[in-house]
Amino acid sequence: MSELSDLDRFCPEGQAPKLQHIGVFTSGGDAPGMNAAIRSVVRTGIQNGIQVTGIRQGYRGLLASEFEPLDSRRMGNTLQRGGTFLKTARLPEFKDSNIRKKAAEIVRDAGFDALVCIGGDGSFTGARLLWTEHKIPVIGIPGTIDNDIFGTEATIGFDTAVNAAVEAIDRIRDTADSHDRLFIVEVMGRDSGFIAIETGLAAGAEEIFFTDNPVTVDDAIDHIRRGITSGKKSSILIAAEGQKPGRAYDLAESIRKKSGFEAKVCILGHVLRGGAPTVFDRNLASRMGAGAIEALRRGYCDAMMAFVRGRITAVPLREVIGKRKHVPAEWIKLAQTLSN
Ligand code: ADP
Ligand code: F6P
Repeated sequence: MSELSDLDRFCPEGQAPKLQHIGVFTSGGDAPGMNAAIRSVVRTGIQNGIQVTGIRQGYRGLLASEFEPLDSRRMGNTLQRGGTFLKTARLPEFKDSNIRKKAAEIVRDAGFDALVCIGGDGSFTGARLLWTEHKIPVIGIPGTIDNDIFGTEATIGFDTAVNAAVEAIDRIRDTADSHDRLFIVEVMGRDSGFIAIETGLAAGAEEIFFTDNPVTVDDAIDHIRRGITSGKKSSILIAAEGQKPGRAYDLAESIRKKSGFEAKVCILGHVLRGGAPTVFDRNLASRMGAGAIEALRRGYCDAMMAFVRGRITAVPLREVIGKRKHVPAEWIKLAQTLSN
């Protein structure tokens, strides 16, 4: 856990918190490993005498009281499955304090002593407001393929998404090599570049376009030309989708206009959101789920479970939400060095 003074408490030090019944939900973009996190929250909760109820479809389901009592048996055969069996949703209306007030009333009427929110930065923003406005204890578990959440070195689903992207690019490299072709492969991540950089490093991409990397189209063209001179017959560039899925087509058009090079485009998109979670993601999720129960049992809340230097800890949500996590410059330099 973080320094004790860092974390908010919903129960005075030394007293046993009232923790008979909690709600757990998944919110925002789904991610492989979310089911493993739910399974761990349920089974660890039950182990500690806590009833766990699933809230379906995130905040949308909360407002509709879409609840499902969860027991250990219900968690069977969920660990290895991608997606979230509780379903997820987006509810922009949750930015309205009146909607959150209604949600708080529903939480209390349902008898939830606390909520565990499995999602990303946006979902945590909503959860934190339930604590600050209505004193509903919340714990966040970072579940998003983007790995763009400040305060944790890994988010659930990221490892699976990167492995899926690298497998796809290895396949593309076969046909690119057969036809001596240039490919631009677009990955998800919104405007964060973690999927792009980890995939690019592992797949040996020639260039990686994402917000934190100042590479230009002219740089990429020069890189391709140098490769041709040294005998490289095919190249693969990776582009993070940014705010607009499909920007890889814009890059291809720009390269064609400037150099005459024809690039094939492959948008991986939602392929990266599915599939069986990797061992890393399963066990990250299981450890974070158990950590969430532990934090609540110690009376802590308004916190997120985090993976820091190989350990699971809790960090205050106020130190996480809204902060941008940047790709380290040395990772970018290494990718450039190894792609020559
Ligand atoms: P993620 O949690 O993956 O970042 P979103 O950003 O789409 O996904 O947020 C998921 C949900 O969290 C939103 O649909 C909304 O219900 C809630 N949410 C997001 N931002 C806020 C906010 N600023 N205030 C209140 N609720 C929010
Ligand atoms: O936040 C996770 C994420 O997969 C982003 O990488 C992507 O841009 C977004 O969700 C897509 O959201 P949706 O599935 O709602 O189209």
